[in-house]
Amino acid sequence: MGHPKINTESTLLNNVAIIMDGNGRWAKANKLKITQGHERGVRVVKEIVQECVIQKITSLTIYAFSSENWSRPESEINGIKKLIVKAISDQVPELIEKRVLLNFFGDIESFGANIIKRISDAQNNTYTKDPSLQLNVALGYGGRSDIVNTTKFLAQEFKQGNISLDNINEDLFGKVSEVPNDKIDLVIRTGGDKRLSNFLLFQAAYAEIMFIDKLWPDFTKEDFIACLESFKKVERRFGKRI
Ligand code: IPE
Ligand code: IPE
Ligand code: MG
Repeated sequence: MGHPKINTESTLLNNVAIIMDGNGRWAKANKLKITQGHERGVRVVKEIVQECVIQKITSLTIYAFSSENWSRPESEINGIKKLIVKAISDQVPELIEKRVLLNFFGDIESFGANIIKRISDAQNNTYTKDPSLQLNVALGYGGRSDIVNTTKFLAQEFKQGNISLDNINEDLFGKVSEVPNDKIDLVIRTGGDKRLSNFLLFQAAYAEIMFIDKLWPDFTKEDFIACLESFKKVERRFGKRI
C-alpha cells in the first residue's frame, strides 16, 4: 500500500489501463496450448509498452492475473508463473534503458518467494526519479478486495488516532489503495466481453471504456493508437453542462 502517486493533471491522456483478454481463445483457435497463448500475450505487452513511451503516456496499468484467476487449472497457473519470471528477466534491461518504472500490485505474496524476490529486484532495478512511463502490473488483483483492504487500513489508522474522520476523503482513499494511479482516464478491454472483471473499480470511476473485439495476442500498436485517437475525440464532461 501507499505507492508514490504521479501527477495526473498535466496532459489530456495520462493514465491508461488494459484488460488483456483473449489469450485462451487465441491459443484454441490456433490449435496451440493455453500457455502459448499467454506467451503471445507477453509479446504484445512489449509492443504496447514501447508505444506508450512514444506516445508519452504517464502510466500504463495492465491486468495480468486477477484474484479470480486462481480458480484456473494448476497447469495454467504454473505456466503463467514461469512466464512472469521469463518476462521479467527478458524485458527489464530494455525497461531500464527506456526509463520505464515497473510497479507490481495485488496479492503478490500468493505467488511465492521466487516471484516475490524477482518482482522486488525488478522494481528496484527499474526505479528512476524521472520515468518515461510508469508500468503497473496487476497480479492477483481484485478491485473489491482492494476497496475492502483500503477501508480496513483507514479504520486502523483512525482507531490508532493517526487520522480523524475528516481526513478520510476520495484523495486519501485513492492514495492508500494498492493501485499506483488513482485516476484512470482510459480502460481498454480486448477479447470482446463488455465487463470490468473486478479491475480498478474505484480508480476507473470516470474512465472512458473501450471494448475491442480482437483477442489480446492479435492486438497491435495500430489498434492501440486507434484507441488513443478515439479517446481524443471524446468530450469528457465530468457531469458538467458544456
Ligand atoms: C487473459 O486471457 C489472460 C489472463 C486471464 C491471465 P484469457 O486466458 O482469459 O483468455 P480467454 O478469455 O480464455 O480467451
Ligand atoms: C480478466 O480476464 C483478467 C485478466 C485479463 C487478467 P478473465 O478472462 O479472467 O475475466 P472473465 O472470466 O472473462 O471475467
Ligand atoms: Mg478471459
